[in-house]
This record gives sequence, C-alpha cells and structure tokens, in this order.
Amino acid sequence: MHLHLSTWAEVEQFLQRSRVIVVPIGSNEQHGPTGLLGTDWLCPEIIAREAEKRAEILVAPTFNIGMAQHHLAFAGTISLRPSTFIAAISDWVRSLAGHGFEKILFLNGHGGNVASIEAAFSEIYAESSFAARRAGVALKLCNWWDLEGVGELARDLFPTGHGAHATPSEIAITQWAFPDAIKLADYAPLIAPSGPIREALDFRARYPDGRIGSNPGLATPEKGRALVELAAQSLVRELEAFGSETQPD
Ligand code: NI
Repeated sequence: MHLHLSTWAEVEQFLQRSRVIVVPIGSNEQHGPTGLLGTDWLCPEIIAREAEKRAEILVAPTFNIGMAQHHLAFAGTISLRPSTFIAAISDWVRSLAGHGFEKILFLNGHGGNVASIEAAFSEIYAESSFAARRAGVALKLCNWWDLEGVGELARDLFPTGHGAHATPSEIAITQWAFPDAIKLADYAPLIAPSGPIREALDFRARYPDGRIGSNPGLATPEKGRALVELAAQSLVRELEAFGSETQPD
C-alpha cells in the first residue's frame, strides 16, 4: 500500500491492522558523469516499491531532498542545510505519529543524510525526555546498503571499484528501474580518487567528475535487479522485526 495512492479512510483502516510505516529518504544530487541526479532517492524508493509487492506494508511518499551541501558545485543538486533537514524530518514524524503511527522506518539512500537523520531522531526523543513522558513513537534508520546481505552481494558483484559515491551498486539499481535513462561515458581515471568530504568547491576540486573511489562502468541492469530483490526481501524482514518489537511498560 502506498500512502499517496490511498485515501484518508484507507489509512485509518490500515492503522487498525498496523502502526508501521516506511519512509524512503534520499537526496537529489550529482552522481558523476553517468549517474542520475535522483539516484539517492530513487534507490530506496525502488526497493520499498518492490518490498510492497511482497508484503502488506505501507510506503510513505519519498523524502527526496536531503543534506547535500558538498555537491552544490555540480548543476542540478538541490540541498537542505542540516538544520532545515532536521526540522523537516521532525515535522514528517510529528504528522505521522499524530495519526497513530508508532514505528517509522526511514529507508535511506544517501550517506550524507545519516548524521542529520540521527540528530533529528535525538531532537524528537529529547522533547519527550525533557518533558518526562513517553515518545509514543519509535524511529529507525536503515541505509539500503546495510540491509541484510546487501553489502556482501555488492562486494561479490563489485570486488574492486565500488567506492563511496556514484557507486556501481546504486547506478545498477537505477539502470534496472529506468533502462531508458542509462548513460555512457569514458571514465578517466577508471576508478575515481578517494579522500575527505568538505564544502562544495573543495569537493569539485578533489573529485572533478563527481565520483569518489568508484567505477560506475561496472554497473549493469541485471546486477541492479539482484540487489533490489535481495534488498526488498531484507526490508520486509526488517519491518516485521521492527513491528514486532515490544515497548516496555
Ligand atoms: Ni548516492
């Protein structure tokens, strides 16, 4: 079930059966010479959609703009600063928790989001902690590449040249979902340099074509399909485990 394709009455009925919802969350940012700008929000959305075909889960609209300040020197990147991102996540959570959702799993597709998502969770929990009351909502962050088995599969598929940004695994997933949008380029060097991430102009100087440590030329739609199928199965299990967690009195 998809929230955006449901009516309020259907969501009310869903809440009688389950209090769990998954929110795909990512970023709209450059992904090297061949990666789609939407890669980091498309990957969790694609995986959540496949999981939804396999189990009765509720998928929220994708939170598709994240913390990508370091990519702003490349055209097409849209970023929220950390404070804006944290405030927006908090309002999404308050909205959903207000309707009765008690378990909210954020399926994340962008490493640069992790610190701010965790900070948002702490801000939300802090409101309850300082007021000495129960939060009534449990929050979970799950990066799609950390879903059970996915890291191992990515290492098997891409023993070298996986890297950290514009990786062949994320490119492969978008190639499988959007074969008409596959782009080609000559990568030079074949494997991009690695190093630190700071502000946007420093990033562009270190990583001129936008990649970090990766060779996206290794991506194929077939490898993407294998990653999505495994990730979708693991997500279903993750949601089941999260949903059956009991709250102590
Ligand atoms: Ni990415």
